[in-house]
Amino acid sequence: MQPRLDRLGAYPFERLKALFSGFQPNPELAHIDAGAGEPRLPLPAFVAPALQQHLAGFSKYPSTVGGMELRSAIASWLSRRYGLSSVNPATQVLSANGTREALFAIAHALVNPDAEKQTGRKPYVMMPNPMYQIYLGAAYTAGAEPYLLACNSETGFAPNLDSVPDEVWADTALVYVCSPSNPTGWIADEAYYAGLLALADLHDFYIVSDECYSEIYWADKPSGLLQVAENLGRKGFSRCLVMNSLSKRSALPGLRSGLIAGDAELIKRFTKLRSYTGPATPLPLQHVAAAAWSDETHVEQYLAVYRQSLEAFFDIYGGEIPAGSFFVWLPVSNDEAFALAAYQQQSVTILPGSYLGSEDANGINPGSGYIRAALVDGPDAAAELARRLKQVRV
Ligand SMILES: Cc1ncc(COP(=O)(O)O)c(C=O)c1O
Repeated sequence: MQPRLDRLGAYPFERLKALFSGFQPNPELAHIDAGAGEPRLPLPAFVAPALQQHLAGFSKYPSTVGGMELRSAIASWLSRRYGLSSVNPATQVLSANGTREALFAIAHALVNPDAEKQTGRKPYVMMPNPMYQIYLGAAYTAGAEPYLLACNSETGFAPNLDSVPDEVWADTALVYVCSPSNPTGWIADEAYYAGLLALADLHDFYIVSDECYSEIYWADKPSGLLQVAENLGRKGFSRCLVMNSLSKRSALPGLRSGLIAGDAELIKRFTKLRSYTGPATPLPLQHVAAAAWSDETHVEQYLAVYRQSLEAFFDIYGGEIPAGSFFVWLPVSNDEAFALAAYQQQSVTILPGSYLGSEDANGINPGSGYIRAALVDGPDAAAELARRLKQVRV
């Protein structure tokens, strides 16, 4: 048996199920599920015709890297979105079956677990804390030690790179960035990415930038890692990979389609791993995905809905609208007690923030004392959620 798996805790939604076990939601209120980040907006209009037209593709094995139509659509989107001068779809782009699998698998392609034999220390995989839990699972199973960058009100919810000692950088193999951040809504600015790139050159590590919420923002359109790399005059996006997804921007979480793009050397390495693990996107779904990356009208419509939802929520609940993502990250006295009370009293499912964080060496979990709610059902549901959360008594 693989002992590294023993270091993984139960996934947040399993923990939530256990927390709610034996308790009932208030039967007098319709249930609101703000737990998962699953956009429940209408399907974009192009989905059904694109699927219908390419149904025959289900009779063929798709290639793991993704067909050229999809990879070209992705490359064009990246170029348009970030003003990139060139992205080569053949060497710098891969299809992902949703970014979750890709964010997990990438650590297995880029981290050398045998580094420990040479240095006596495990390589570090650095990540924000709280985080999308996949980074943590990836680090453990790839034989690395997670290095957690606390994101709290003191850091403005930024993972503070200045806090990292040189000896930690020296053993760092990979850094995950998440901007806009799930769960805090923090957005990395260009200077942040530039600082990280300089550190990557100095200490020889790779950067994986999870930009799944790039099209969901309150005021300023978020920058991306590849954009900053190119603006700095770096050649070929060296050391950089970005991942992005149709799940959030196009409200297509069930399509399971995303992109991986960046440094051709890293793409080649990852392709080799993927040729064995085989996360191929079915051909008809690749056509839907290509259509989704080629259309911004539906993305703008969804952005308007996400913004209306944020506004509706904060008008009632009070507080500051996050810079990015459709999550609200609210301070509460005791996150588990609050989530359970919200379920029992108000028939609302939200996630305790501690389930999205991990205890650091000092036993501090920066997710503790927060809850995360996803505004994924439109403005009316967001307003109702705010009204109900205000009434929760712990
Ligand atoms: C930060 C972040 N990254 C990646 C993902 C994965 O999304 P998908 O696998 O649907 O592309 C999610 C999903 O919730 C997420 O919140």
